[in-house]
Amino acid sequence: MAQLANEPVIQSVIRVAGLGKSYETAAGLFPALKGVNLEIRAGEFIAIMGPSGSGKSTFMNLLGCLDTPTMGDFFLAGSNVAYMDKDALAILRNRTLGFVFQGFNLLPRMSLQDNVALPLVYAGVDKETRRAKARAMLDKVGLGKYAESLPNRISGGQQQRVAIARALVNSPRLILADEPTGNLDSHTSEEIMRLFEELNAEGITIVLVTHEPDIAAHAKRQVKFLDGQIVSDHLTEQATA
Ligand SMILES: Nc1ncnc2c1ncn2[C@@H]1O[C@H](COP(=O)(O)OP(=O)(O)O)[C@@H](O)[C@H]1O
Ligand SMILES: [Mg+2]
Repeated sequence: MAQLANEPVIQSVIRVAGLGKSYETAAGLFPALKGVNLEIRAGEFIAIMGPSGSGKSTFMNLLGCLDTPTMGDFFLAGSNVAYMDKDALAILRNRTLGFVFQGFNLLPRMSLQDNVALPLVYAGVDKETRRAKARAMLDKVGLGKYAESLPNRISGGQQQRVAIARALVNSPRLILADEPTGNLDSHTSEEIMRLFEELNAEGITIVLVTHEPDIAAHAKRQVKFLDGQIVSDHLTEQATA
């Protein structure tokens, strides 16, 4: 468990070693993730691939600190999360990562601007700054003019842009996205992927789950899961483009 004293200082945003997760089910413990080793460095753009049930969401939920592992180590921005207290972890998580889901997960009765500002409320940022930052992020994803609208007034692709703006509002260095284009048509999916490419070009690290090769082709590195394990890990043409 202990971090080695002579571990080199590297720009590793995420490092997992022997990471595992077993779920308690009526039939007993089910190992959904079976000892995964992976290092993700600053500036990477990774597509996590693999068939349904291979453990992709389980892995992403661990990386996003939405769930806790049942074995192994997870270092987020150099800190072993197992040794952090709840408050310290909440602060680190808030500052380090933004999460984007397949279903957008916007609050239906809140304006787009208030949806985007939500992570800043949790971070204790004052109202004026929240408004300014949320507005700037909506402008960044091309939706500033809809700031006061409710989510049901815009398209699915636009809602996912708002969700990305929300994930960006704390200036995280890492975006985790679990099948962000899963509910979108192919044209809209391409637009969302171009947005991720722009963010990556600005230096934000991106880890994105998809089972579609066309979507994964936008990434610089592809990691494939099967039955709770990584079965391949390679760079793509994008890495050298
Ligand atoms: N909360 C849970 N309780 C029990 N089993 C689960 C739970 N979540 C996921 N699983 C099981 O773990 C395996 C991996 O699931 P998941 O990580 O969602 O895969 P993927 O995202 O690749 O489709 C599946 O067999 C799934 O049924
Ligand atoms: Mg999944």
